[in-house]
Amino acid sequence: MKRVGIVGAGYVGLVSGACFAKLGHTVICADNDKEKIETLKKGKIPIYEPGLEEAIAQARSKNKAALTFTTDITQLTKSCEAIFICVGTPPNDDGSADLSAIENVTKEIARNLQHYTLIIEKSTVPVATGERIAEVVKFENKKGIAFDVASNPEFLREGTALHDFFNPDRIVFGAETPRAEKLLRELYHGIEAPIIITDIKSAELIKHASNSFLATKIAFANALSRICDIVGADVVKVTQGMGYDKRIGPAFLQAGAGVGGFCLPKDIDAFYHISKYCGYDFRLLKEVKQINEAQKGVIVQKLEEELWNLRDKTIAILGLSFKPDTDDLRFAPSLDIIKILTAKGAKVKAFDPVSMPKARAILDGTKVTLAKDTKDCLKGAHAVILMTEWNDFKKIDFAAAKKTMAGVVIIDGRNCLDAGKLKTLGFRYRGIGRN
Ligand code: UDX
Repeated sequence: MKRVGIVGAGYVGLVSGACFAKLGHTVICADNDKEKIETLKKGKIPIYEPGLEEAIAQARSKNKAALTFTTDITQLTKSCEAIFICVGTPPNDDGSADLSAIENVTKEIARNLQHYTLIIEKSTVPVATGERIAEVVKFENKKGIAFDVASNPEFLREGTALHDFFNPDRIVFGAETPRAEKLLRELYHGIEAPIIITDIKSAELIKHASNSFLATKIAFANALSRICDIVGADVVKVTQGMGYDKRIGPAFLQAGAGVGGFCLPKDIDAFYHISKYCGYDFRLLKEVKQINEAQKGVIVQKLEEELWNLRDKTIAILGLSFKPDTDDLRFAPSLDIIKILTAKGAKVKAFDPVSMPKARAILDGTKVTLAKDTKDCLKGAHAVILMTEWNDFKKIDFAAAKKTMAGVVIIDGRNCLDAGKLKTLGFRYRGIGRN
């Protein structure tokens, strides 16, 4: 069993830390956010991810040292053979990735190296970042201690992150020395999945290419939904028909209210940017982004077609998080739609089963009313927009809700409601690429 260091107790870092501990390794997670580390030491989790709190508690139940938290990176450099860099790579204004946290962490690790260490980039980074990391370590590591750099991109999805860690479709190691490869294999021992060994640049590209391809699949479905709207076809059926073709597959073909989260939207920008920097204008990615962004306008257009003027109309927004089973509001299409609606003078009421505390922090002080529950949200609404396909929303008793509503318009931004039933109840249902 190995001693593993994780720098960055965010989404990827915490999930990876808990999962490596579950695999039997001794894990130390470091973060420079003192408050976050104090919270973690008390057994509380600063993010919402099903099963994560339990996994951390379980890892620490027999032996607290199995998974510890610190603000001091030297604790990692002192004892760990492998250190994963899991800090954020947020977007700059021009869409490129801000790699300053990666550089700072790399310097801190390098200055404190005491013995051979494998430094692994797990954060999503543009191609050739590994090369930069290696240069920085070489320069800052004045004692000339041996090290390797490797890339091990993370593919976990929010909401199913633990399951994804233990059941990945593949594990990618960008490892360029036998020692680095051997150590990585030992770290992942116990997980059954194809292992792809590549050079570091190819591993970095696999991550950007995968997320961009997923965004491209969604964009295709979204574009298709526009044609379906025009000719009166049903995009759900069309994509279902396509998805049975094994070469296409059904996943990530759901047309909807837009693409959010902290990965897909920023990764496609960062990939475009790095490609251009390297000398290739990857225009396809620009178009993908534009198509996915345009979906928010589609929702508002449908609403205006149904309600005519939005001024002083009450619009219920069901779902704020960028997808179900997470409280994450980063790049959530719901927030952009709320901005458009309020700018048009609509009265917005919103409810989300999990992200209300985060929503309060963003929307308190604005004109948006945060509802107590679904019923409260729908009461008095001239129209409903379903933005996130939470299971709770699929079970809403719309017959009862209709009696409390001021109108009968439902815009199903995720095509997850029973259109036929709603129409029978007297609602005016509009899906995305299906009416
Ligand atoms: C994504 C990648 O899937 C994951 O591999 C990577 O490690 C991190 O980024 P995540 O951000 O958790 O994961 O969200 P994901 O499940 O990919 O969904 C992203 C967005 O696309 C959501 O807003 C979702 O609603 C939207 N989406 C997804 C669609 O509109 N249609 C689809 O068919 C699938």
